[in-house]
Amino acid sequence: MTLVEDRGTAPSPALRSGSAAPLLEVRNLSTHFFTDRGVVKAVDDVSFSVAPGEVVAVVGESGSGKSVTSMSIMGLVPNPPGRIVGGQILLQGRDLVGLPRKAMQDIRGDRIAMIFQDPMTSLDPVFTVEDQMVETLRRHRDLSRGEARDIALETLDKVHVPDPPRRLKAYPFELSGGLRQRVMIAIALSCQPALLIADEPTTALDVTVQAQILQLLTELQRDNGMGIVLITHDFGVVAQCADRVVVMYAGRVMETGSREAVLQRPRHPYTQALLRSRPRLGERGRLTAIPGIPPDLANPLPGCPFANRCAETVDACWAGLPALQSVAGDAEPGRRVRCIRRESPT
Ligand SMILES: Nc1ncnc2c1ncn2[C@@H]1O[C@H](COP(=O)(O)OP(=O)(O)OP(=O)(O)O)[C@@H](O)[C@H]1O
Ligand SMILES: [Mg+2]
Repeated sequence: MTLVEDRGTAPSPALRSGSAAPLLEVRNLSTHFFTDRGVVKAVDDVSFSVAPGEVVAVVGESGSGKSVTSMSIMGLVPNPPGRIVGGQILLQGRDLVGLPRKAMQDIRGDRIAMIFQDPMTSLDPVFTVEDQMVETLRRHRDLSRGEARDIALETLDKVHVPDPPRRLKAYPFELSGGLRQRVMIAIALSCQPALLIADEPTTALDVTVQAQILQLLTELQRDNGMGIVLITHDFGVVAQCADRVVVMYAGRVMETGSREAVLQRPRHPYTQALLRSRPRLGERGRLTAIPGIPPDLANPLPGCPFANRCAETVDACWAGLPALQSVAGDAEPGRRVRCIRRESPT
């Protein structure tokens, strides 16, 4: 089985020609946590971009900084102890870093929306679906209650929630896990965001529902030109949905490129190890199979952060942090690998 054939869709013409201006551009983002143990560099000099209509998957082991990256984009890093200490997050050219709280609240839920692994963290158990959808819509749009209700019904229908009028009256606990996930997606999509951040949106769901939700997201994204940052542990999901992939480890980007490049020609030993450790078809689970432990982000050693777990190290791997660099013989724009041995055959 090749992982890449699953999606069956070509990138949009704008993406193929490289003409689409980025919707999101994360430039040299660093987000640190100031803790009793020291400064935890959870995200360190991370850059990537998302074009309209593009799905960019962010993958990496637990603790690699995926969620802190998404919280940074959403302006939701808990402060204290966390803070964006450097870089820019450009949404349609406008830097979100340092925006006043009120301006960020206006953008959140409107131009950028987020869906989480566990719907219960974003659905309020004491309000009905209607209350929550209408409230979100009216916070961002000048709509009457009735108009907001109509859009809520339409959006529930769009995400294939059966019998929307009945679900509108339901409380979250009255819905199955799959329906709660769809309601959360409907709330996220109700204001037609330009960018959707989906942090492990399907890991809590069974395989069938998981496939349906991903199918739904890619349909909506294709129809509306919405950009998606899809955070996942699961390379099956990457193969099904992603246009491009950002591989993170210890708060840094280790490898990036098109889905084809990263899945079929992975260059970093870490990416190769992640791909080897992916759950078999039909199984679900976290990527825990790479031997060794990740570095202490509060006390990083010099050199490549993966060096202590890498089977291919040479002395130079310990000398300094390798740069994220292009690969000779791989002409794909944006293809980068942070490994001094990236051009050695493995
Ligand atoms: N509030 C916090 N205070 C201190 N450190 C934090 C805080 N939140 C996150 N971190 C640290 O930031 C690092 C990155 O965490 P993050 O949640 O982004 O990982 P992740 O890649 O999303 O992992 P997972 O796959 O388990 O969701 C971890 O080392 C984590 O301990
Ligand atoms: Mg996470």
